[in-house]
Amino acid sequence: MTRIFSGAKPTGHLTLGNYLGAVRRWAEVDQHRADALFCVVDLHALTVDHDPGRVRRLSRQAATLLLAAGLDPELCTVFVQSHVDEHTRLSYVLECVAADGEMRRMIQYKEKSARERAGGVSVRLSLLTYPVLMAADILAYGTDEVPVGDDQSQHVELTRDLALRFNQRYGQVFVVPRATHPPVAARVMDLQEPTSKMGKSHESGAGIVYLLDDPDVIRKKIMRAVTDSGREVVYDPGARPGVSNLLEILAACSGGNPKDLSGVYESYGSLKRDTAEAVVELLRPVQARHRELAGDQGYVEGVLRAGAEKARGMARPRVDEAYRAIGLLATA
Ligand code: AMP
Ligand code: TRP
Repeated sequence: MTRIFSGAKPTGHLTLGNYLGAVRRWAEVDQHRADALFCVVDLHALTVDHDPGRVRRLSRQAATLLLAAGLDPELCTVFVQSHVDEHTRLSYVLECVAADGEMRRMIQYKEKSARERAGGVSVRLSLLTYPVLMAADILAYGTDEVPVGDDQSQHVELTRDLALRFNQRYGQVFVVPRATHPPVAARVMDLQEPTSKMGKSHESGAGIVYLLDDPDVIRKKIMRAVTDSGREVVYDPGARPGVSNLLEILAACSGGNPKDLSGVYESYGSLKRDTAEAVVELLRPVQARHRELAGDQGYVEGVLRAGAEKARGMARPRVDEAYRAIGLLATA
């Protein structure tokens, strides 16, 4: 059976980008067709300046939201990364296979480290090594497919390179995984700055729809989205990023395709109104279920406990095998 692994990091509240680019597909498609694991990758949230209490709260919230979005513990494994030691155990071994040059070439590292340096913040070493930990997350489970948004393609590519290199040098231990992306909305853009990705931790939240935003807040954010100069509604992400982003979001919500939808609208106003309503309706059941689950944290904790135990059992043999293959003595 196909093995799927993916994760979301609790660096901020989950966004519409997370949902359309990844989480929704995990719930609607992936968990039904494969042996799937979904992980709140909390160790990754420590790679940038963080507040311990906030990371803890966001991890709990992210796990609750994944369940609210429809991940079903009867169908898939939901857990928290730091509960399963195999990830860091394997990460070290993969650091001995990765080269520092290839880590420095990672786009996300280059962008984030430049931003931090410009702000006078020291760059954590873990920000540089983060993609190796991500590779360990994936490779520990013999993963075939990694459903992610576009922004993670380079990291999955690196994961493939590390798997191939390890296998070549030390013997066949790892499955070489591949990334899969949703057909539309694989990169949802910021509503105020449609040339950059809608990310959790943008300075102002005005261009970001959070999954737990009130319906009126969602409407306001979408109605105030930056559109482009020009009047007609056309789908052209290069020349018209603002309006194309709205068309992508609407298409993702309604099951249509952005190009066809562009022919339906005469004005930006009506496109925004329909997009806002479509997003509000899409998120309504997720928010309702989140409210229920937030009041039942005992249930969520139980799911995470069982998930971690199952994940541990799945990862352990392969990580042990990697340890042996690379030259470490087996424990008696
Ligand atoms: P992160 O929250 O950065 O850990 O991302 C979790 C998942 O959401 C990953 O698969 C990302 O590729 C995806 N994702 C994050 N932001 C966006 C976005 N703006 N558009 C599409 N997918 C996204
Ligand atoms: N790096 C991913 C992101 O920023 C999160 C992540 C960590 C992940 N480990 C993973 C995604 C393993 C897929 C598989 O979105």
